[in-house]
Amino acid sequence: PTLPVGIHDLCFTTGYYVLDHNEMARHYGVDPDKYRLGIGQDSMSVPAPDEDIVTMAAAAAQPVLARHGADTIRTVLLATETGVDQAKAAGLFVHALLGLPSSTRVVELKQACYGATAALQLAAGLVYRDPTQSVLVIGTDIARYDLGSPGEATEGAAAVAMLVRAAPAVLRLDSTSGLYANDVMDFWRPNYRATALVDGKTSIEAYLQAVQGAWKDYAEQGGRPLEEFEAFCYHQPFTKMAHKAHRHLAACAGLGQSDADIRAALRHTTSYNRLIGNSYTASLYLALASLLDHSEDLSGKPIAMLSYGSGSIAEFFGGTVVPGYREQLRTAAHQEAVRRRVPIGYAEYRALHERALVTDGGEHLIEAESGGPFRLAGIRGHKRVYDTAD
Ligand code: CAA
Repeated sequence: PTLPVGIHDLCFTTGYYVLDHNEMARHYGVDPDKYRLGIGQDSMSVPAPDEDIVTMAAAAAQPVLARHGADTIRTVLLATETGVDQAKAAGLFVHALLGLPSSTRVVELKQACYGATAALQLAAGLVYRDPTQSVLVIGTDIARYDLGSPGEATEGAAAVAMLVRAAPAVLRLDSTSGLYANDVMDFWRPNYRATALVDGKTSIEAYLQAVQGAWKDYAEQGGRPLEEFEAFCYHQPFTKMAHKAHRHLAACAGLGQSDADIRAALRHTTSYNRLIGNSYTASLYLALASLLDHSEDLSGKPIAMLSYGSGSIAEFFGGTVVPGYREQLRTAAHQEAVRRRVPIGYAEYRALHERALVTDGGEHLIEAESGGPFRLAGIRGHKRVYDTAD
């Protein structure tokens, strides 16, 4: 199709607290370089008790609606693997908090960290069908593993909101995609658990196998040669994973890449993820935000995106950065969302973690803590109650 469709605006937000990996290294008596160099993480966002995927999602979407209005939005696609209800779509809470019109289709999507890419592609399809409409796509997640498990160092939290429409101002999506599906138990969270289960080494292998499969399909579909891409954005459970993935991709594509080449291809795409940690569905789009916010002018340049969701699905796709995109960027707001987080020690982090595992269910009020525009005020009669800051 010749109609340009893609990302018109993008905004992310993250949790209220931050745990520095030096704190974790001290607590466990491990070398801090294991985190900083070994997995490529400096710190991780930790939500306050009055924050959840809904409050983060609404906070990410609010500035997008403030800038563009909600008149053309007829669909909200919210992707998460931190669902708050087995039946009701979390997007309906967001829809209400944002005051969106009743003439809106709202649905939740799930396929681990891949969900927001599914939402983006479905949104593009809806816009092709009716170019007068736009779609609000949200990826929002809180990554939690068992305390003391290897996954603990790769926690994090963030939400990203994207407005998808015709004639986008930021990224025009290519119509070619490479896909790969494979039933594997590398990372999962059964309904009865609040923390994810993961087979760390299997998950890294599964990710790499999926990169290879998605690239093979992309090439067979007649996609661009790898050398054409100016930069590569990867799903980043931890930023070192992007390096592993890119090295593997280059080898699959028969491209000799030195360590310096790999660093150059990923330069600027890991800054936010390194500080925020894993944000599951939002992670790939934080990589995109990081690239756009920190890179020299990318106008007219093709960039590659690799989405991976355990279980597993991968999609490799490209897009062209739209000239003039810099006027849409929210670099200062993004940097402020990262900077304003309140540092906590390991003991405080642990208390928040333990509390998060038991707060769901029952009847309780939650004190205002995060000071964000939206907050979870409590649970009453098994119903989540949200509040807007005055
Ligand atoms: N200095 C420098 N490097 C060091 C070091 C030191 N002192 N100590 C260790 N390292 C290096 C290791 O050599 C290793 O590097 P390589 O991977 O390049 O070999 C790295 O640090 C990590 O060390 P370990 O493998 O010993 O770490 P670990 O056993 O604690 O586990 C992990 C690491 C498997 C990533 C774990 O954090 C985990 O299970 N995380 C959650 C699962 C995950 O994120 N999987 C990613 C793919 S799945 C996915 O992408 C979906 C998703 O979002 C979850």
